Amino acid sequence: MRSELFRVSGHHGDRDPQAEAWVRAVDRGFYDKDRDAAALQRFIDALRARDTLLTAVYDDGATAPSLAAVWPVATFAEFAGEMTVRPGAQLSAHQISDVTVRATHRRRGLLRSMMEASLARAVAAERPVAVLTASEASIYGRFGFAPSAYQVPLRLKVEHGLALRPEAKAFAAAADWRVEELLPRDMEPIHDHVFAAFHQQSTGSVSRAWDDLQRVTGRWAPDGYGAAEDLRAYACFDADGTPVAFATARFGGWDKDPKELQILDFVAADPAAELALWEHLGAHDLVEVLTFSRARVDDPLRWALANPRDLTTKSVEDSVWIRVLDVPQVLAAVDWAADGSVVLAVEDALGYADGRWALTVQGGTARVVEDDAADAGPEVAMSVDTLGALATGAMQPWQAAAVGRVQADPEALLAVNALFGDRRAPMNHTFF
Ligand SMILES: CC(C)(COP(=O)(O)OP(=O)(O)OC[C@H]1O[C@@H](n2cnc3c(N)ncnc32)[C@H](O)[C@@H]1OP(=O)(O)O)[C@@H](O)C(=O)NCCC(=O)NCCS
Repeated sequence: MRSELFRVSGHHGDRDPQAEAWVRAVDRGFYDKDRDAAALQRFIDALRARDTLLTAVYDDGATAPSLAAVWPVATFAEFAGEMTVRPGAQLSAHQISDVTVRATHRRRGLLRSMMEASLARAVAAERPVAVLTASEASIYGRFGFAPSAYQVPLRLKVEHGLALRPEAKAFAAAADWRVEELLPRDMEPIHDHVFAAFHQQSTGSVSRAWDDLQRVTGRWAPDGYGAAEDLRAYACFDADGTPVAFATARFGGWDKDPKELQILDFVAADPAAELALWEHLGAHDLVEVLTFSRARVDDPLRWALANPRDLTTKSVEDSVWIRVLDVPQVLAAVDWAADGSVVLAVEDALGYADGRWALTVQGGTARVVEDDAADAGPEVAMSVDTLGALATGAMQPWQAAAVGRVQADPEALLAVNALFGDRRAPMNHTFF
């Protein structure tokens, strides 16, 4: 087995045969249909736009007509981005994507070798966290990843418009927001402005890139094949004309009952604008239900409704996973709720976060030193994946304690509970 690292060559629009074979292997890995030339080029351009480092594993022993003789048997992609760890604080993030191993070559350690090499490069590049989105929840815990944000697919009845409580209606109306429908191709500056504001303030948010913009503007259909001819776009502007929320959506089709408006993207930088936009999306005659796959776990929308049962959710899904690589940097960025001191005894099979970390928070600022002394303070023990989920607030310390994922005496548990506090659920709107 031979592993090769490379970047897509040339400039936007140029072909690259090695990268094309790599994309074909990724599509195989995710059971996708073969791309036409245009869809293939889109993927190549997106990889190039992110300056993606690609890993391809080749089976040099394979012979034709085996696919392994033509395309890589394993793929892995990584690129730089950033994640918000507390409002206003972003950390450089090592983003991982397109992880596949051909079924003929599975369970021989290819994923493990690609992942370990990639995390070592992340540390060398001084990226304190690695992040990924997972096809299966059983794969990445062993490498130190844990969910750092969740999302819920929601369904909202709007047969006669969105029925809001009077206070909620007044709240949405008071700020003098203006909701407009736009052509998707005009969405780029609106998306950029609103997403930047959301990303700044939202713990758990991962930065977006060029390919996200292609979807918001309808240049790409949601599945990456062709343009989205049925995309609709909406934005909410404040009194000064600054965009504060946007959404894209498409009609579910006349043959579908109930008639549905499928919201594909919905990002807001202000709660009143968010509510105003929901109200507008609900005000489409003939549309009976709104669906959105990426709503907040703790979405306040339910509390705005005249009939809270108009909103239903069936599942909770992990949206993004985090892997702590640099404990002092991550802890320095956490949104601490109180002052105090604890020692975090972190177990990490790959070594990056392993050790006893003496944490002191004073006035919201954390000081972290690696500490060998056994008596440095009350000690809380946990694995590195638990630390990641606690850092963004996806898991609360009391939840970790209730299932044995932190081990601490009562005094230490009180301290760590107070330090982390009870935070709003993290939220990520970026899929990669
Ligand atoms: C998931 C996938 C990449 C695993 O690759 P692989 O080369 O077979 O994995 P490895 O042999 O390196 O296995 C590493 C470890 O993960 C475990 N593992 C691998 N895939 C797993 C899965 N789907 N569920 C649970 N455990 C899994 C292995 O048992 C092994 O455990 P160990 O270290 O305790 O022995 C591969 O099965 C695949 O391509 N699946 C389809 C595409 C996909 O889901 N990709 C992930 C995208 S997020």
